[in-house]
Amino acid sequence: MSTPLTPADQEFAGRTALITGGASGIGLALAHRLAAGGASVVVADYDEANAREAVAELESAGAKAAAVAMDVTDPASVEAGVRFAVDTFGALHLAVNNAGIGGPSNPTGEYAIEDWNRVVATNLSGVFHSMRYELPAIVAAGGGAVVNMSSILGTNGFAGSPAYVAAKHGVVGLTKTAALEYAAQNVRVNAVGPGFIDTPLLRNTDGQDRDHLISLHPAGRLGKAEEVAELAAFLLSDRASFIHGSYHLVDGGYSAS
Ligand SMILES: NC(=O)c1ccc[n+]([C@@H]2O[C@H](COP(=O)([O-])OP(=O)(O)OC[C@H]3O[C@@H](n4cnc5c(N)ncnc54)[C@H](O)[C@@H]3O)[C@@H](O)[C@H]2O)c1
Repeated sequence: MSTPLTPADQEFAGRTALITGGASGIGLALAHRLAAGGASVVVADYDEANAREAVAELESAGAKAAAVAMDVTDPASVEAGVRFAVDTFGALHLAVNNAGIGGPSNPTGEYAIEDWNRVVATNLSGVFHSMRYELPAIVAAGGGAVVNMSSILGTNGFAGSPAYVAAKHGVVGLTKTAALEYAAQNVRVNAVGPGFIDTPLLRNTDGQDRDHLISLHPAGRLGKAEEVAELAAFLLSDRASFIHGSYHLVDGGYSAS
């Protein structure tokens, strides 16, 4: 056994990571985590002002980082963002497909068609569009790893969130399929399933009673963005070298019962 499986200080040195939705919440925490590990980080977000602010923070902490405006619902925008990452830092090795929205809370029989389309376009098609352009770039770099941000709602239902739940289940299937397709080319693809995490997404989603959400987690609290980032960073690292095509929970026990 020659490969060290403990974290090295600069385990992402020489690697470029692209994070969709990297300007806020979980994506932002992960940008800081990967940068601290030595990665060059591309913050890709449709909120360009926040992306630039995130990059300024990363650079002031000594990281190599760049911002790109990207709307994951638009394949041309994603293609351009991936090209930007390769052009800026020379190659793409790591990708985190994390951009997502909550959508309104309504039962399936009353869910507005436009809300369904918007949530699925972002949370499911956005992950497909991202992998569609990232995977060839990662293969061209000689291999790497992808993490797709699903949710505990990638395996559980949740009343009032049909589009979100369907999209997050879809992300798990898409992850497994891409993992099968790309394992032989030295690319690992995995999904993360967070419980409810205290981020702007949760704070801005209608109809979510915070105390009720807390009560669903045996840990007795919501998760922190940094706790999700830690799992994603592990999956992106060489320490996870035999982990392909799986779905990993970070949920304070939500799914255990
Ligand atoms: N917060 C939670 O409770 C929770 C739980 C499970 C999974 N997740 C998932 O984690 C991911 C990150 O969520 P968060 O809680 O950090 O949310 P957040 O709102 O803090 O961050 C999401 C980021 O995605 C960006 N974004 C949204 N739509 C986009 C688009 N079309 N193109 C590019 N960027 C876009 C936003 O501008 C924002 O910067 C999402 O996929 C979400 O579904 C969140």
